[in-house]
Amino acid sequence: AVPHHATLCLAADRDAIDRAALLLRAGEAVAFPTETVYGLGADATNGTAVAKIYAAKGRPSFNPLIVHVPDLAAAEQIAVFDPASLALARRFWPGPLTLVLARRPDAGVSDLVTAGLDTVAIRVPAHPVARALLAAAGRPLAAPSANRSGHISPTTAAHVMADLSGRIPMVLDGGACPVGVESTIAAVMDGRIRLLRHGGVSRAELAATSGLAVDDTPVTDDHAPVSPGLLASHYAPGALVRLEATALRPGEAFLGFGPIPDDIGATAVAAETLSAGGDPVEAAANLFSALRRLDASGATTIAVAPIPEHGLGEAINDRLRRAAAPRPAPAPSVGAPAGGE
Ligand code: TXA
Ligand code: MG
Repeated sequence: AVPHHATLCLAADRDAIDRAALLLRAGEAVAFPTETVYGLGADATNGTAVAKIYAAKGRPSFNPLIVHVPDLAAAEQIAVFDPASLALARRFWPGPLTLVLARRPDAGVSDLVTAGLDTVAIRVPAHPVARALLAAAGRPLAAPSANRSGHISPTTAAHVMADLSGRIPMVLDGGACPVGVESTIAAVMDGRIRLLRHGGVSRAELAATSGLAVDDTPVTDDHAPVSPGLLASHYAPGALVRLEATALRPGEAFLGFGPIPDDIGATAVAAETLSAGGDPVEAAANLFSALRRLDASGATTIAVAPIPEHGLGEAINDRLRRAAAPRPAPAPSVGAPAGGE
């Protein structure tokens, strides 16, 4: 599931940045420096490209990713800003602050980036290499930290190579990251700031700029979202989800992996496949959108074909198991997750 040859580690000069931008536009994942930590970036509007991030990191689950954009105007095309968030953006961007905002659903950002949430996390990085790459790529870039799942975040290109060499085509070397910890993640909710992850912008700075109370009561742990299914804001289909389905019951929609069997296609309320060719990267890219579409079909249950537990199949199955788990009572609404990874 993770092809790749030799990983080029290039000093981030003009030529290398242009090569990285071409790879990004072609749907590849490339590591690049930001002022906080190195990110593993991919075109946020291309689900298959985003799935390659998860494959390279070896992530067993899909957590929402931060979208990196060149400026506030680009962010406003992807998300809706309340006045307090706008003030924070004007004060701290470019810089190590990520804002969780209401997502504009028609902006073209892949559902895999937001993991099906109605919110999107956005930041404008300050690092000159990140800025040059965003300008050259001309696309919003989804980018988690460029480490293998479970490892600590990389602050040099050598750290990235130690984790991801052979798994991605290129690392842009821009030296050591000046901030060295991840961005602060904040969401303005009910007239106060929910601090979802401590990071490069301090709580005191947030409070001073906004005049709002800053609440850092943990909503999750370091590997969040621990239980997205427990968070009211996390997307869970309205329909029930039944796993390992090899035959259909009346009233069910079908989510396949590989070609859709003729008899199932003929009887299902709605049927689609995550990947006709059985490719887990393509399947991951389609997962959240497919669930939304089948949910909208009016079926009481979405029956899901068995999905092999290898490569991104693990992450797909993790999310499907959560969707199929018994539903908790609605929790008080919180901006949702955030944390390391
Ligand atoms: O400094 C950083 O933020 C680095 C650099 C590369 O920009 N990126 C980074 O990304 O740390 P990552 O994926 O390691 O962390 C993203 C965090 C996750 O904990 C995720 O839960 C949270 O952001 N997140 C993303 N979208 C969210 C959303 N819609 N609501 C709440 N939390 C969200
Ligand atoms: Mg990380």
